[in-house]
Amino acid sequence: MSTASAPEGPFSVSTTINIAVIAGDGIGREVTVQAQKALDAAIAFEDASIAYRDFTLGADHYLETGELLHDATLEAIAESDAILFGAVGGVPGDPRLESVSIERSLLLRLRFAFDQYVNLRPARIHPGIGSVLGPDARADFVIVREGTEGAYSGSGGLVRGGTAQAIATEVSVNTAFGVERVLRYAFDLARTRDKRLTVVHKNNVLVHSGALWAQVQADVSAEYPDVTVDYLHVDAATIHLVQHPERFDVIVTDNLFGDILTDLAGAITGGIGLAASGNINPDDRFPSMFEPVHGSAPDIAGKQLADPTAAILSAAMLLDHVGLPVAGQRIRGAVGLDIEHRQDVGIRSTDQIGDSIAARIASAS
Ligand code: IPM
Ligand code: MN
Repeated sequence: MSTASAPEGPFSVSTTINIAVIAGDGIGREVTVQAQKALDAAIAFEDASIAYRDFTLGADHYLETGELLHDATLEAIAESDAILFGAVGGVPGDPRLESVSIERSLLLRLRFAFDQYVNLRPARIHPGIGSVLGPDARADFVIVREGTEGAYSGSGGLVRGGTAQAIATEVSVNTAFGVERVLRYAFDLARTRDKRLTVVHKNNVLVHSGALWAQVQADVSAEYPDVTVDYLHVDAATIHLVQHPERFDVIVTDNLFGDILTDLAGAITGGIGLAASGNINPDDRFPSMFEPVHGSAPDIAGKQLADPTAAILSAAMLLDHVGLPVAGQRIRGAVGLDIEHRQDVGIRSTDQIGDSIAARIASAS
């Protein structure tokens, strides 16, 4: 963040938040514009301003230029205070994308290069939402998904590929260091909430990584006697998420289990169109990145059908992260009201939802 003293004196110090915008592909581009509208409306109340820098990346950009993510681009993004990310990915089955993984070469590269080891995914049944769990269902929890290790590490390979003797391995990497830091983050987060933490793994079968997670859980929880900790196997956790989502406050889990559980959490809390996320580098050595949980949805792209709410709520998380939680709360408040009144207004376009949320932010006192 850069601060510049205005000429009139030391009390008018204004802050500029430098945001790298990677809108990406498909509906990523449509929803990111709406998130920027919300950011602009919220920042107007602060002694701060936002400077955006657009980075054109994703499947379309790769097809046009051959760039997935050059080192120089990564370095330029690293200069920002935070990243607003839309979604990336081309049309499934496009033969030109067969030999590349946009997900790995771009999205996961950013998460790994910027050491975004906490993937924070709040899940809440807002008043007025028709949850698939029924009208009385309650849920307000946060999933802390590890972001740099596990099955996503890229360790493994294919031997004798294309033959009947092919061997494929995908190694789940769990380091004591990596597990400890994400657990500590989750304990700290639980302390700011209802002080209940659920660790999710599958330590009855994944005995090596499971034992490491259990050991670190035991060690770290001794330092947090005020936080109630329990443990669930991931399969059982899916049952509880559907049958008793109100039992959860903070959930912490590994990268792959977290990927799956956060889609489920989105589905039970109003759908993936509302699910926000932050890829956080808690040390602030690198920028953190805020993105809706959903993908680029090429099937509905360009039709103004996407719900921008998840992107807008992700922008609110960005503001929290850069030290403007009041502005973040202003966005969440406006989104809450918008959701509450959705049944009255009928079907709206992406732009219309973005405009009405921005208008609510602007009119909030
Ligand atoms: C998510 C997505 C990504 C993931 C994909 C696109 C790499 O599903 O953010 O949850 O698996 O993390
Ligand atoms: Mn996912």
